[in-house]
Amino acid sequence: MYALSGRVALVTGGGRGVGAGIAHALAGAGAAVAVNDVVMDRAAAVSERIVRAGGRAMPVIADVTDPGAVEGMIRAVVTRWGPVDVLVNNAGIPAEGVVPGKFVASDPKDWSAAVDLCLYGVMVCTHAVLEPMIAHRWGRIVTIGSDSARTGDPGVAVYAAAKAGAASFMRSLSAEVAPEGITCNTLSLGTIRGPQMTDEVSNRLARRYPAGRLGRPDDVAGAVVWLSGDSGEWITGQTIALNGGYAPS
Ligand SMILES: NC(=O)c1ccc[n+]([C@@H]2O[C@H](COP(=O)([O-])OP(=O)(O)OC[C@H]3O[C@@H](n4cnc5c(N)ncnc54)[C@H](O)[C@@H]3O)[C@@H](O)[C@H]2O)c1
Repeated sequence: MYALSGRVALVTGGGRGVGAGIAHALAGAGAAVAVNDVVMDRAAAVSERIVRAGGRAMPVIADVTDPGAVEGMIRAVVTRWGPVDVLVNNAGIPAEGVVPGKFVASDPKDWSAAVDLCLYGVMVCTHAVLEPMIAHRWGRIVTIGSDSARTGDPGVAVYAAAKAGAASFMRSLSAEVAPEGITCNTLSLGTIRGPQMTDEVSNRLARRYPAGRLGRPDDVAGAVVWLSGDSGEWITGQTIALNGGYAPS
């Protein structure tokens, strides 16, 4: 019997990077995992790897910022496995996708992309799974945040604000739904090493982390499994930093 046996999980942006690590770990803990991505091939490849390793997974394609597409995706999961018990709001912008620049030089028309994906998309997916969670009085919602939001980060103010908004949304919602057995938390990540990152860049960025290295998807996945099981029942409304000791709160 694994910690998440009988649970249904949905990981947004699960087709690569941190989300793929989370999807594998949830499946390893016994959950049936719907691997969402906006890119079909990515979700399908992660899902296939999970199934080949003996787990249960299905790819589900939707842009998390499109409420109609998200509703359709949830219907497909419910039809196959039943309501979503664990939602991981992971889809977002990777470290290398955030182009640093001074806010004063930014163009208002470029702000909505980060806000849509990192805040509105979190609300859309959360809203789509919440009623059934309330009906069966159990649910886990984990949003993948960023230390840019927790500590502030010059050059990425709009991204950091969108991530901070999502963490604030989790905090407020947690108090609304705690009586229904649903927890809502944010994991605030330091830099996670991506597959394209060179050793030189990784070593340079790692200097700011007391633990002496960047994060790995596995570092995040273990925390998601912990929050997603019955072990996480009394942890809600929190922003938990995973960052090798950088800027402790
Ligand atoms: N990588 C880091 O150093 C780091 C640091 C702090 C926070 N984070 C956060 O962690 C999460 C994962 O980051 P990552 O580095 O693994 O990113 P990634 O780009 O490697 O993976 C994200 C996945 O999300 C998918 N995606 C993008 N937009 C989507 C949409 N609208 N709908 C559905 N799927 C979509 C992408 O196709 C991609 O497969 C993000 O929320 C990111 O902001 C990452």
